[in-house]
This record gives sequence, structure tokens and C-alpha cells, in this order.
Amino acid sequence: MGSEVYEVIRRRRDVRAEFTGEVVEDAALWRILDAAHRAPSVGNSQPWDFVVVRERATLERFAAHVAEKRIEFRDALPPERARTFEPIKIEGIVESGTGIVVTHDDGRGGPQVLGRATVPETGLYSTILAIQNLWLAATAEHIGVGWVSFYDAGYLTELVGLPPGIRPVAWLCVGPVHTFQDTPDLERFGWRSRRPLTDAVHWERFG
Ligand SMILES: Cc1cc2nc3c(=O)[nH]c(=O)nc-3n(C[C@H](O)[C@H](O)[C@H](O)COP(=O)(O)O)c2cc1C
Repeated sequence: MGSEVYEVIRRRRDVRAEFTGEVVEDAALWRILDAAHRAPSVGNSQPWDFVVVRERATLERFAAHVAEKRIEFRDALPPERARTFEPIKIEGIVESGTGIVVTHDDGRGGPQVLGRATVPETGLYSTILAIQNLWLAATAEHIGVGWVSFYDAGYLTELVGLPPGIRPVAWLCVGPVHTFQDTPDLERFGWRSRRPLTDAVHWERFG
């Protein structure tokens, strides 16, 4: 039952190097965005928006900014970690052909968002769920997604013209792929591996 869902969850990867260079078709892009827009949200606030970026000059400008942030991160690493990090690709901004900037509006839904009073972060959690929906739907379409977070929020805000109160949450590189890797890149390159499920599950009390 529901085996396709499990299969898609298993196949999903953060994609950086496997984009074909073709641009995702508008119909598929719309289905993926529709899946994102069907995410659950606290108080049904739907605090997300999606800015689709395809102009090459904008993709190149963002890629140059991310390259600077990558260098800053590398330079702050101890030498051994810097060597492990060196071959790891952290984005496919230009190759993917399409960027989706997912944004969050904490004011959406008015001052009394049902369910958010005690846990303010639930607004942001909702936007993140939209991203996960998008990621899984894309995987089902054989479209790769790569989440890029090496950026200054102010830079991205300015780049895509976000109004006050709208915060960028992710830049997603979205495009057709020739393959999905079986193993996450960070595991393949020896940066960090997936924990066993038995370490993550606790019964009755943590610890
Ligand atoms: C919030 C978040 C931010 C991420 N930022 C980046 C990033 O800037 N660059 C990158 O290459 N991968 C990024 N990733 C992808 C993770 O490295 C990846 O999900 C993780 O290594 C597991 O691999 P998998 O998604 O292929 O299973 C990000 C993932 C999340 C959830």
C-alpha cells in the first residue's frame, strides 16, 4: 500500500551535479508548485510564496554570491575538514536552469493564527513543509532539487525584490536530471553520513 510514496522518498536526493542542462517544462513546474502549495500549514495560514527565476544573468549573479560564501565557509574550516570539503559541489544554480526562491511571510493569516500562539516557529515549519512537498513531487517527475543556503538573506532579498516582511527561506535549484545518486553526496565525499534509524528513535523518554 502506498509503495510509490516510499519509493519516491527513497529516491529523493539533494542534487548538485546531475542536472542535464535542459530546463524543466512549465507544465511539470506547475504540478510541482501545486504540490508545494497543498502543504499543511498552521492555522491554514499558507505563509509561503515562490519566486521562479530563469534569467541567466540573475542565476549567474546568485551563483557568484554563493561562490563567495563557499570560500568563507572553507576558509573557516580546520585544514583536514577543508580538504574533505574541497571536492564537494554545493550548488547547481546555473546548470539547473531554474531557481525557486521560497519565501515566508510571518504576517500571513493575521494576528491570531490558530495553533501558532504557543509555538511561534510553526509558521516557518509550514513553509518548510511546502518545500518538502515540492521536493518529493519533483522527484516523482524525475526532476532534481538542490537546496542552496550559502547566501546572505539581505542579498537574496534584494536580488529578487522581496518586499518588507517577506523572508527568503531557500533557493532551490530545479531541473531535469540524468540520474539520482543512491547515496547522499555528503556521505559519498566523507563529510557526514546518515545516522541509523535506531539511534534516532526513542521510546517513552529521550535517552
Ligand atoms: C535546510 C537545508 C539546507 C541545505 N543547504 C544546502 C546547501 O547550501 N548546499 C548543498 O549542497 N546542500 C544543501 N542541503 C542539502 C543537504 O546537504 C542534504 O539534504 C543532505 O546532505 C542529505 O542528502 P540527501 O538530501 O541527498 O538525502 C541543504 C538541506 C537542507 C534541508
